[in-house]
Amino acid sequence: MYPEINSERLWQRHVEMAKIGATKGGGVHRLALTSEDIAAHRLLADWAEARGFAIALDDIGNMFVRREGADSSLPPVASGSHIDTQPFGGRFDGITGVLVAFEALEALEDAGIESRAPLETIAWNNEEGSRFIPACMGSAVYAGNEPLDDMRAATDANGETMGSCVDRLKAALPGATHRELGAPMTAFLEAHIEQGPELEANENIIGIVTGMQGYRRFTVEVTGEDAHSGTTPRARRKDAFMAANDMVQALRAELEDEADTVRFTIGRFSVEPGGISVVPGRIAFTIDLRNPVPETLEKLGNRIPEICRENAGPCTVVTDEFIKQPPLEFPAEIRERFTAAAERRGYPHQAIYSGAGHDARHALKLCPAGMIFIPCWKGISHNEAERAEPEHIAAASQIIADLLVDIANET
Ligand code: HGY
Ligand code: MN
Ligand code: MN
Repeated sequence: MYPEINSERLWQRHVEMAKIGATKGGGVHRLALTSEDIAAHRLLADWAEARGFAIALDDIGNMFVRREGADSSLPPVASGSHIDTQPFGGRFDGITGVLVAFEALEALEDAGIESRAPLETIAWNNEEGSRFIPACMGSAVYAGNEPLDDMRAATDANGETMGSCVDRLKAALPGATHRELGAPMTAFLEAHIEQGPELEANENIIGIVTGMQGYRRFTVEVTGEDAHSGTTPRARRKDAFMAANDMVQALRAELEDEADTVRFTIGRFSVEPGGISVVPGRIAFTIDLRNPVPETLEKLGNRIPEICRENAGPCTVVTDEFIKQPPLEFPAEIRERFTAAAERRGYPHQAIYSGAGHDARHALKLCPAGMIFIPCWKGISHNEAERAEPEHIAAASQIIADLLVDIANET
């Protein structure tokens, strides 16, 4: 027996969550463990406690909302995503997966349907990796792919540590019990907006995710010499900006492929000291390189430090690769379940590959995991204009609820 999703309630929860960190441009600015992000976790906890669900928190700030099953000794069947956003991000990236999962629990509660294994909604901490590097930090630590102590020691631009912010989240959730990192799960399911144009173009509502491309991320620091812009001839300059500019042009020439499959992005670029009349002595920028083909990712990623060195001119350059994740395939077992549920519900659906990174990558190390996408308007994401439709969000929640019931009663 499956529950029926309450689409209106689910949409209203999106409206409430979007108020926390709302921007003038209609998006959400809710960086990991800022007061806005903690307030959003608190709101989810209020909703959960009102339903009698239990709450747990682990040492890296992942939050678990639990609806007990008939056999509480069984590992939970879990679903979720993340609550944090990019700077001036959208109202659906991440939070939709958390609210879709939470609505599934509420619908089961309304219908009085008991599951054999417990069910959980997870809000993985710091998926976006904008304030604290790296991305997917919470799920990576949970799965043992990143060391807890190093990640708690990560600092933001103001020198605040991840650990001190996690402790602040803990203080905001006094009713949360402690959850061990890596505690087993029976399966993990994640619903997310596609963040691309394919589903909308194909008029499909559900995308069953086949896999996720790999990525490699670097910081690049170029050091020259601050100098007077009026008195210093070019021949005597160690201009870090011009060297960085040469590096970027050379990187583009070598990394950007004809077929447009390589995703090469410089998302952050800082110039110091930043005086109009000062030749810049220090440049720092980031590189996000992604591709679905392991060999391509390996070959092009290895060239990045070399290309930077080759174009440093009179300056010095230090490149640091701070994260490297291979392409992955999701197990057929979970994909087939998603497909059967979409057929049963009569939702137009297709298989789709993920260009974006998600927490399900790390959950897959612990248990069978999979993802479904829903369309987002013009494929726009990591942008305040990001938009998804209530009926598509409800369809995702219905699929997640159906699979939670199936898997929890088969264990
Ligand atoms: O960057 C990503 O792929 C994800 O949206 N954080
Ligand atoms: Mn996301
Ligand atoms: Mn994102």
